Amino acid sequence: MAGNSTISIDGKDFPYPTLSGTTGPDVIDIRKFYGQTGLFTYDPGFTSTASCESGLTYIDGDAGVLLHRGYPIDQLAEKSSFMEVAYLLLNGELPVKDELDAFVTTITRHTMVHEQLATFYRGFRRDAHPMAILCGVVGALSAFYPDSTNVGDPQERTISMHRLIAKMPTIAAMAYKYSVGQPFVYPKNDLSYTANFLRMTFSVPAEEYEPDPIIVDAMDKIFILHADHEQNASTSTVRLAGSSGANPFACVAAGIATLWGPAHGGANEAALNMLREIGTPDRIPEYIARAKNKDDPFRLMGFGHRVYKNFDPRAKVLSKAASEVLDKLNISDPVLDTARELEQIALKDQYFVDRKLYPNVDFYSGVILSAIGFPTTMFTVLFALARTVGWVAQWNEMISDPEQKIGRPRQLYTGPTQRDYIPVETR
Ligand code: CMC
Repeated sequence: MAGNSTISIDGKDFPYPTLSGTTGPDVIDIRKFYGQTGLFTYDPGFTSTASCESGLTYIDGDAGVLLHRGYPIDQLAEKSSFMEVAYLLLNGELPVKDELDAFVTTITRHTMVHEQLATFYRGFRRDAHPMAILCGVVGALSAFYPDSTNVGDPQERTISMHRLIAKMPTIAAMAYKYSVGQPFVYPKNDLSYTANFLRMTFSVPAEEYEPDPIIVDAMDKIFILHADHEQNASTSTVRLAGSSGANPFACVAAGIATLWGPAHGGANEAALNMLREIGTPDRIPEYIARAKNKDDPFRLMGFGHRVYKNFDPRAKVLSKAASEVLDKLNISDPVLDTARELEQIALKDQYFVDRKLYPNVDFYSGVILSAIGFPTTMFTVLFALARTVGWVAQWNEMISDPEQKIGRPRQLYTGPTQRDYIPVETR
């Protein structure tokens, strides 16, 4: 507790406790505010409101800092693995070797999905967006694993978190396979989490598939960079859905639906489509002008962030990785040149400078994903696959919090006041 803050209303003072976290801004605890003043606070978009207490991820948007359980994202991306980061987010500490081995074994043993789940896919059109498929199939998991839906039981929660992390690559790869008309590929337990996912996505039964270590590394790094991001829209959705006691499969399906929006995870698909549409650097000024025109709804996709007002540390890692991966794979993609030029022009433009708009995680990830061979429609699916770790870790933290209550925001009502019903004949 850091003391009190006083809110003065019509000359009357109301003291409220000011709470301090381990770092970051203090918060004014206004839980008793309505009871004492009869007023609500108004904050659409939650720009000034802390919705929960959390010990998972810290962001300092002005300094471009992102920490998972205290560890900087660039160090994790450089030195860790996605499985280790998953363990860290779920358990709070980096694992010792035996703990990591046991965790990897557990996740590996949960990668298969019920055979009946495969029939779900055939209900979708072949051209269905894989995010639509992901949303539906993940939501359906609760019907397959009713033994892990008692959210009050910590052991059942752990099993369902492991199931979600383990099955997401299988479900995502199946969505891809269905869209290209190839047979589903079963998981293979002697491969790493990420190599296994790549094999289920890109191999065909007709020939053996050797995952390229350069691609496995790049994919793993992308998964690490997307693993968690504090109280963003999809994570807040998972928490809100979970606050009612809904099962974790349903909550994660709600998170997937939220992530799909172009202002959130859908931006990676939109960013690459935009870069391809721009095509050559000489067309950049036209798009910059459109982004600045208030009468045009167009925005530079992969640019701007609610929290980062300096730079997005994930974009920094990905910008470097994009060049490295393309170099190593000997691929020359004009889209990367367009992206670099667009970044340079935008960063010098007063409109973007004034509004502190920088490339975000979605700006460069698409260049790498495209080089690996993913169609743009799979980009947000890969984001969802990685973010599942953050979603379940945040969901579990919320359920374990003794102060947890069902989420129930208030509103500023602007509709009609009470009036009497008039029968249709006399209206
Ligand atoms: N292009 C052009 N102008 C922009 C952009 C952009 N990408 N982003 C923000 N602005 C302008 C906006 O028009 C507004 O201008 P003004 O003050 O003159 O009205 C100002 O900057 C502030 O924007 P805002 O919409 O109030 O900011 P926000 O915090 O509500 O939105 C955002 C953040 C990420 C939704 C927004 O920057 C955006 O739409 N970016 C493009 C989509 C995108 O890349 N999203 C991925 C976010 S990172 C990954 C993730 O979260 O999944």
